[in-house]
Amino acid sequence: MYKISVIPGDGIGKEVMEAALHVLEAVDLDFDYEFAEAGDEYEAVSGIPLPPETIDIVKDSQSCLFGAAGESAADVIVKMRQELDLYVNLRPVKSYPGTKSLFENLDFVIVRENTEGMYIGLEEETDEGAIAKRVITRKASERISRFGFEYAVKTGRKSVTAVHKANVLKKTDGVFKDSFYKVAEEFPQLESNDFYVDATAMYFLTKPEIFDVIVTTNLFGDILSDEGAGLVGGLGLIPSANIGDNLGLFEPVHGSAPSHAGKGTANPAAMMLSAVLMLDYLDETEEARKMENAIVETLAEGKVVTQDLGGKSSTMAMATEVKNKLENL
Ligand code: NAI
Ligand code: MG
Repeated sequence: MYKISVIPGDGIGKEVMEAALHVLEAVDLDFDYEFAEAGDEYEAVSGIPLPPETIDIVKDSQSCLFGAAGESAADVIVKMRQELDLYVNLRPVKSYPGTKSLFENLDFVIVRENTEGMYIGLEEETDEGAIAKRVITRKASERISRFGFEYAVKTGRKSVTAVHKANVLKKTDGVFKDSFYKVAEEFPQLESNDFYVDATAMYFLTKPEIFDVIVTTNLFGDILSDEGAGLVGGLGLIPSANIGDNLGLFEPVHGSAPSHAGKGTANPAAMMLSAVLMLDYLDETEEARKMENAIVETLAEGKVVTQDLGGKSSTMAMATEVKNKLENL
């Protein structure tokens, strides 16, 4: 029995969560769900977007499924990443048939450092303008690198690439690059290499197949993961994981999409694929592959899919299709 906290949140977050939980009913595992509140709607009634009870419920669970928040997203999801020390942001870049992916057979992951770098919010105004501080520590660089290598071993991948700009950011990215290669020594069975971030941005478009696992700092990872999302089709398809030492939080990359909310038109694939990442995190590899295959078949057939994928089906109809496939696998 897995204890899972569930935060549907706002807008389509609620609809894609219902869809994903519907599919999880057909997974051969037992889940004990604890629902928790967060987001704009909760703030409207209570005055706060993220109550301490929600943090407690998430802390007390083995994994959290998160739908989406609206305008309060920064106070909800960004705050949870910090409070729960979810230092890894993991984003698969995987092409699926029946989608608008620019390449076929793409399959790599971006492991982004989630707690420091350019996003610590240390900005100050000066007489001339403003200054932002970029903090890179050995501790955070080593743990994100170690996560990348361990993830590569666990998922049978062959190479790990550090992405940085150490030729210009000599001190900060010097620490990052040195930490990466120090950890690499513990994994002689894997290939390790490094690229500059600007070259990487180009290679995504010219030869993305060279990547397997990418480990990078916060800002570079944020930009590259959106570029990666662009490579493999729309926001309705892109899952993500936020992982700490004892907890994972799994969420679609998209937000509450107000234009779709309440209409049953949101694509549930990103949320369902986030649940697949959760199964992988829980080491339920077999169930993860089965659920992923049911989603992939549904996308490839293109018959019972939502509007953004060229279909006419509702969020729940697509979920039911995936569930039926999973039951018949
Ligand atoms: P969004 O991701 O909600 O929507 C962007 C575009 O993608 C829209 O055209 C939307 O229709 C489409 N889209 C997104 N998910 C889709 C799905 N599952 N199926 C079909 N189409 C989909 O981002 P936007 O519009 O910038 O923000 C809307 C609200 O969401 C804002 O209040 C923002 O703060 C919040 N937000 C929350 C996030 C989170 O909770 N992690 C992340 C991003 C935005
Ligand atoms: Mg982003």
